[in-house]
Amino acid sequence: MTESTPFLGIEGVVAGYGGGDVLKGVDFTVKEGGVTCIVGPNGSGKSTLLKVISGLLKPRLGQIYFKGTPLVGLTPRAILKLGIVQVPQNHSLFGEMSVEENVELGAFIVRDRSVIARRMDSVREMFPIVAERAKDKAGSLSSGQQRLVEFARCLMLEPELVVLDEPSMGLDPKTLRVMFDTVKMMNAMGRTVLLVEQNARQALKMSHHGVVLENGQVRLSGTGSEVLNNPEIGVLFLGGALLEKPKAS
Ligand SMILES: Nc1ncnc2c1ncn2[C@@H]1O[C@H](COP(=O)(O)OP(=O)(O)OP(=O)(O)O)[C@@H](O)[C@H]1O
Ligand SMILES: [Mg+2]
Repeated sequence: MTESTPFLGIEGVVAGYGGGDVLKGVDFTVKEGGVTCIVGPNGSGKSTLLKVISGLLKPRLGQIYFKGTPLVGLTPRAILKLGIVQVPQNHSLFGEMSVEENVELGAFIVRDRSVIARRMDSVREMFPIVAERAKDKAGSLSSGQQRLVEFARCLMLEPELVVLDEPSMGLDPKTLRVMFDTVKMMNAMGRTVLLVEQNARQALKMSHHGVVLENGQVRLSGTGSEVLNNPEIGVLFLGGALLEKPKAS
């Protein structure tokens, strides 16, 4: 990888679901080792973009490069094998299976039992809940606990890039902090993170880079604090919350 090869480069991506285009030419790069946060209004195409990155949706135009390798046309499994793992927006554990079984499933493309056992050990260390609730049905866990188990499961592939779609969805404020701390921890342990968040303010605060997606295009990108402090952004999707309230006359 040369100096100019981006870790993940998204170039001119146009994609949709048959009718009109949802993504209308999306360009940005994700830097290695950082946390990049995509924010934007509902329906702006954030999840659609993540589906294109994971190979679940083929773009009509454009290309995505992961350390120089073009991803468009690869199967989701091939993209997993390259080291990109996504945790989807909706809860995705098998509720009737145990926590441990769910986490092990994360390593479904790994054959070597000793590798799986070693990774299970390190995941248990990082996520105590995986050991504490090992035999419990995943469906019996709270929303926040399920999120952590989903993170644990995705780490079973030791991904280089962790892609998270709205991990804060449905979490109460306390669990939300634990979840964000866990994202920071995964990043500190060497995983590059790309996440989508509705909880824009908190997410941008902990992100190195921010991207604002609006109506299928990048409206703004910069450091997390540049995006957070841009007054237009407050108007766009924080309901003006970042702006001063007009004084009563
Ligand atoms: N499977 C699908 N088939 C058809 N249209 C879809 C499908 N998934 C999403 N869309 C449409 O694509 C547009 C963008 O959806 P997307 O889920 O990417 O938005 P989003 O930015 O993730 O929104 P949210 O913040 O609500 O998660 C929306 O208009 C949505 O209705
Ligand atoms: Mg979404």
